[in-house]
Amino acid sequence: MWKKWFGKSDTKQHNDYEGIDHSRVPKHVAIIMDGNGRWAQKKGLPRTFGHRVGAETLREIVKAASNIGIQVLTAYAFSTENWRRPADEVSLLMNLLADYLDNEINELNKNNVRIKFIGNIEGLSKSLQEKIEKAQALTTHNTGLVLNLAVNYGGRAELTRAVKIISEKVLKQEISIEEISDSTIEQYLYTANLPAPDLLIRPSGDFRISNFLLWQMAYTEFWFTETNWPDFKPVDLIQAICDYQQRERRFGGIKNTKKR
Ligand code: FPP
Repeated sequence: MWKKWFGKSDTKQHNDYEGIDHSRVPKHVAIIMDGNGRWAQKKGLPRTFGHRVGAETLREIVKAASNIGIQVLTAYAFSTENWRRPADEVSLLMNLLADYLDNEINELNKNNVRIKFIGNIEGLSKSLQEKIEKAQALTTHNTGLVLNLAVNYGGRAELTRAVKIISEKVLKQEISIEEISDSTIEQYLYTANLPAPDLLIRPSGDFRISNFLLWQMAYTEFWFTETNWPDFKPVDLIQAICDYQQRERRFGGIKNTKKR
């Protein structure tokens, strides 16, 4: 098991899960790992250096999430729009992902983490697809944290794909239009069978959803920080969870709903 501590790199003096109400840990936390480029540029380093450190941050946050008892952690690693970046940055990101799988998979497996990918995996290189399939197959029976990596993922593309699948089923008369419900749509999203995110964390001071989990985040609580992803620490995750636990979630209802 991963030792229950927060890394030596954590300078903010938090050694425990202090402050978290363990009976109300969010089941699913989604993270937009933003600010890698700005972090590096501020230090006069190439943007790609920020992604390398960002991958280290992900390692630490996965451990912390698993130790805290979060059930699902979804991390946005590469969007359908990120192909617009310079070729060297795209290829660095793909290599980081491949390295992450090569170097981390045994440790993740030992710690009962189930790794899943969401997004258009067929759009990735054959060798990366093979690593992804191997990692998913190796950890498929694990019952601990589900680490959901969004790669070549876009919320609009995900919904378009679901619409196409459902339309085909209607054409083949496998389902009728009347039968289509919210849960039919959910069934054809990449996140089928996973709970919706309770908490979205976006570092780096931007306040956008960036085409991430558009359907799934209908009632998600959002938490923002100025800290760039490479500087994000387990203590920031704890802070986000503590703040989340102060929120009142009404899901469109009202507080203390009483029958009238
Ligand atoms: C956004 O920061 C970040 C990304 C597009 C990539 C995130 C990838 C990683 C953290 C590492 C690789 C992932 C794995 C799974 C090992 P940005 O580049 O948009 O930063 P900026 O807004 O400051 O330019």
